[in-house]
Amino acid sequence: MGKFEGKVAVITGASAGMGRSLAVELARRGAKLAICDLNAAGLEETARQCRALGAEMKVDLINVAERENVLTWADAVAEHFGAVHYVFNNAGIAFSGTVEKTEFKDFERVMDVDFWGVVNGTKAFLPHLLAAGDGHVVNTSSVFGLFSMPTQSAYNAAKFAVRGFTESFRQEMLFTKQPIKVTCVHPGGIKTDIAKNSTTADGDGLEAFNQLFDRIATTSADSAAKTILKGVERGDAKILVGYDAHALDLLIRLSGSSYQRAFAEIGGRLLPKNFLKK
Ligand SMILES: NC(=O)c1ccc[n+]([C@@H]2O[C@H](COP(=O)([O-])OP(=O)(O)OC[C@H]3O[C@@H](n4cnc5c(N)ncnc54)[C@H](O)[C@@H]3O)[C@@H](O)[C@H]2O)c1
Repeated sequence: MGKFEGKVAVITGASAGMGRSLAVELARRGAKLAICDLNAAGLEETARQCRALGAEMKVDLINVAERENVLTWADAVAEHFGAVHYVFNNAGIAFSGTVEKTEFKDFERVMDVDFWGVVNGTKAFLPHLLAAGDGHVVNTSSVFGLFSMPTQSAYNAAKFAVRGFTESFRQEMLFTKQPIKVTCVHPGGIKTDIAKNSTTADGDGLEAFNQLFDRIATTSADSAAKTILKGVERGDAKILVGYDAHALDLLIRLSGSSYQRAFAEIGGRLLPKNFLKK
């Protein structure tokens, strides 16, 4: 019997991309699923695919940035299934813009979804995971939680924050010997619609940014989901997704802070011209 068979897994941001692929792969492996997203049509399609594989589903329209709704949802999921074993805090949005051009509201929006969404999901489900006695929290950061790039200050801030939050939480669980495993996921470029759904500081450069993303995102969402689940099965602290993520992680660790100057140069050359003003 597989590790996920009969277990209850929660996935945020499951209407598309890696969230959908995680849901479908977990359904294939016999998990019961609670999925949420803002996108009703996409969420229903994910649910349809999972049900076709025999999964029991709870499907809810939830904005992970709305804390009270996440707290209520967590209780409803636990009541519906009787237990919660895995929480994949996957929902996220991308945004690009220089610090100078990015409005405060855009920094806040990215932090609300990409960072607070993860904190909300972790804390809302924590009592239920502890009650289950073998819970696992899987928080999605990014390679942008390992290194910075020009125009990514908002996204970098949120993804570095997810990493810090998740690693500290893992240490607490280890030290207190509580029965919760904690994993931080750092995908490289994954072929999803995240760039198409993204926004930029003043609407500039989105098309060029999408073209760049299409060139550098080489791992499929299905393959990413399989890599994530393999790491989760092993109880890994850190999951790197894709060859690019492994190579970049090694490069950053070897180069220390000197990567910043090199990546500023590379970023400046690769990014759409109107993103970075000289
Ligand atoms: N695609 C990549 O290259 C890549 C790389 C590194 C990290 N990531 C991270 O992986 C995660 C999944 O991204 P993806 O590439 O599958 O993107 P995606 O855009 O395909 O999927 C993200 C999902 O999250 C949902 N979502 C967005 N805001 C939400 C909110 N407030 N509440 C609930 N749902 C919300 C979207 O509707 C969408 O279904 C994100 O956290 C992203 O930052 C992606």
